[in-house]
Amino acid sequence: MTPLYTITEFLIDHLQCEHKEALAPMLADVAAACKEIAVAIEAGALNGNMGSLDSENVQGEVQKALDMITHDIFIATNQRSGYVAAMASEEVAEIIEVPLNYRQNGDYLLVFDPLDGSSNVNVNISVGTIFSILKSASKQPTLADFLQAGTAQVCAGYALYGTSTMLVFTTGKGVNGFTLDAKVGEFYLTHPNMQITPDTQEFSINMSNYRFWQEPVQRYVDECLLGADGIRGEDFNMRWVASMVAEVHRILVRGGIFMYPLDMKQPTKAGKLRLMYEANPMSLIVEQAGGAASTGLQRILDIQPSGLHQRVPVIMGSRNEVERLIGYHKINAD
Ligand code: AHG
Ligand code: MN
Ligand code: MN
Repeated sequence: MTPLYTITEFLIDHLQCEHKEALAPMLADVAAACKEIAVAIEAGALNGNMGSLDSENVQGEVQKALDMITHDIFIATNQRSGYVAAMASEEVAEIIEVPLNYRQNGDYLLVFDPLDGSSNVNVNISVGTIFSILKSASKQPTLADFLQAGTAQVCAGYALYGTSTMLVFTTGKGVNGFTLDAKVGEFYLTHPNMQITPDTQEFSINMSNYRFWQEPVQRYVDECLLGADGIRGEDFNMRWVASMVAEVHRILVRGGIFMYPLDMKQPTKAGKLRLMYEANPMSLIVEQAGGAASTGLQRILDIQPSGLHQRVPVIMGSRNEVERLIGYHKINAD
């Protein structure tokens, strides 16, 4: 039986990493922010926060009221530890400086997607928060300090606001999941050392984009759809929640492959998902759980970012399926 550590006990007694002194209080703040976000989301229509704003974010997406509410909660709560020098969010174009009086030990950068899958909030389906922590080379960070490859992340995680609220994170020594007991407002370690099964018969992709994909992805999905009648010799199942956090969490629990590949729907964009606050943190978690994460042509964590909001094709999950699809990309390139 799993010992029922609270997240505080875990952070004090069991967190393994060289950045523990900073990460323990930072992760305590992340947990506090996620609890507050869970309350805001759970209220649903009761406090009038559903629906869209008149504004667009830097990617030209219409912002929901909860996109900005969760963005504000994440900033206000995570500047308290004293360890965060600056932040960056999906919802604003520029980096966000932490006020000087809040950053006595400000050696870290926090990058986040405050509300992932926000098209789901109005229809009462799971959403999440994704975060990534980097070490800053400077106490006065600029954009250049943020543009580090995913391998440089010292911590990455997500909160899933689903049938229960969970916080899952890695500090580079495996992946642990905590479930919120909403009655007492405390996270407990319920999913220690999460592992992704190397094989799967379940794939996740937005099938409506099929005609815009490149040939390797079409081939992979065609073979899954042929199931027992095709080369794979077994039937596949499909899921699409339209929230990356929910898809990746499902993959951590029961295996699977998640794809948001390059497509020609919007030829100027290199995929839909953003490298620094979606693909990189989720890739670190997936790799730490024994899975794989690639663009099809390159390991995601090795990409040198050129911009805070750059997009990237994403293929991640059960290792043997990801490697099969990487193989199809190689054949295509030859
Ligand atoms: P966000 O709500 O932060 O913009 O992210 C939504 C992302 C991701 O979570 C999900 O996998 C994907 O967009 C859904 O895309 P479709 O609208 O194509 O289903
Ligand atoms: Mn997102
Ligand atoms: Mn978002």
